[in-house]
Amino acid sequence: MIIDFIADYYKNVEKYPVRSQVEPGYLSKRLPESASNNPEPIEKILQDVQEHIVPGITHWQSPNYFAYFPSSGSIVGILGEMLSTCFNVVGFNWMSSPAATELESIVMDWLGEMLTLPKPFLFSGNGGGVLQGTTCEAILCTLVAARDQVLRIIGRENITKLVVYGSDQTHSAIQKAAQIAGINPNNFRAIRTTKSSLFGLTPDSPLSTIKSDVEAGLIPFFLCATIGTTSTTAVDPLGPLCKIAKKHSIWVHVDAAYAGSACICPEFRHFLDGVEDADSFSLNAHKWFFTTLDCCCLWVKDPSALIKSLSTYPEYLRNKASESKLVVDYKDWQITLSRRFRSMKLWLVLRSYGVTNLRMFLRSHVKMAKTFEELVASDKRFEIVVPRNFALVCFRAVPSVLSAEQANELNRELLESINASGKVYMTHALVAGIYMIRFAAGGTLTEERHVREAWKLVQQHLEAILCVSF
Ligand SMILES: Cc1ncc(COP(=O)(O)O)c(C=O)c1O
Repeated sequence: MIIDFIADYYKNVEKYPVRSQVEPGYLSKRLPESASNNPEPIEKILQDVQEHIVPGITHWQSPNYFAYFPSSGSIVGILGEMLSTCFNVVGFNWMSSPAATELESIVMDWLGEMLTLPKPFLFSGNGGGVLQGTTCEAILCTLVAARDQVLRIIGRENITKLVVYGSDQTHSAIQKAAQIAGINPNNFRAIRTTKSSLFGLTPDSPLSTIKSDVEAGLIPFFLCATIGTTSTTAVDPLGPLCKIAKKHSIWVHVDAAYAGSACICPEFRHFLDGVEDADSFSLNAHKWFFTTLDCCCLWVKDPSALIKSLSTYPEYLRNKASESKLVVDYKDWQITLSRRFRSMKLWLVLRSYGVTNLRMFLRSHVKMAKTFEELVASDKRFEIVVPRNFALVCFRAVPSVLSAEQANELNRELLESINASGKVYMTHALVAGIYMIRFAAGGTLTEERHVREAWKLVQQHLEAILCVSF
């Protein structure tokens, strides 16, 4: 029944309002106040899912979903998840399920090779990869490893001197990680980016900040460079940033949460040039790689740095395999002890698509974004705010009579009006004072017709707003 329900859901997903239209608190009005004492039949439960849960779902798998970044599941991703749940192993160390650990190491080397990551990031080159839940976790783990590496040298009491660097476009994951890791909140540097550098860092933009921190007796220790920022998919120049970092013994983490997947295509791989001098690299396979949430792929050059910070070895986990040092115990590469069999779904995705088809689908999303971009560019009432790098188009309406603030207000109103229609879902960014609408292609079910329809809808809503307001 549940498989049928899922199949029907996907058949009908296009018909639902993409962004849920419910009001806060809607569900408690519909469900009983406490759990039932007696078992209830699955038919009734499924009926409630349809009647009460589905209206409160924002349909990330809808072909008309263009918000945030995609959550590009796939049939094989779901089936992989089912297999993983079927075994339901808790693979904290090798012994607790050797296949879960070994498959993870194998797929991480496979995917690393697809990305042509330098050998030192792979197990075959004495580095290695691990599947975490999300990028927030991956960044926290690497930041803690980098912190402890420095503190072992300068003494724990000097933690207040440590400084973290990113740009004003770096994801808030880094700020959260710094907060959790006990870094002085005043020592988080969000280096300013500008429209002229397309909201990426410039090759030497962190230099003066690092120098003045050093002069002030502080200790730079962690820099997060982003390939594909959340707001506009800006790209930081890895090569020059890593060179600066190296001079100051700063750990560089490369956050390619969204855009990393595209780099399996040779024409996008240049965005990773310079990664050879970074210390860690991560991407979310659950964003744009057909693998259901959660599946963040993290590679590190020096797993021992992670292990020194994250390992514990209580008596109840002691076993011969761990003591032999011949195995990976992934509990020591992450925050939690218990861990899911995530490699199963990634393995199914890699095998069942094959590299050729994965590239083909990614390219088809980029092509759809390009189509949308061309449609925007052909209408004089709109502009593309920043050039497109991947499958995200940042655009806005710019009727010439408006001030900057009025233009922002108009685009806010336009986006709300589009989303309230339930026909598509897009989100916004506010960068350098410019409010823009983000159109992120990449839904697994999205076809060119959805893109063209979405554009027509944007035009219609703009016309309706201009008609009423002006
Ligand atoms: C560039 C970037 N980094 C990090 C994240 C956070 O990812 P997660 O939710 O997996 O922690 C996102 C989310 O969109 C992102 O775009």
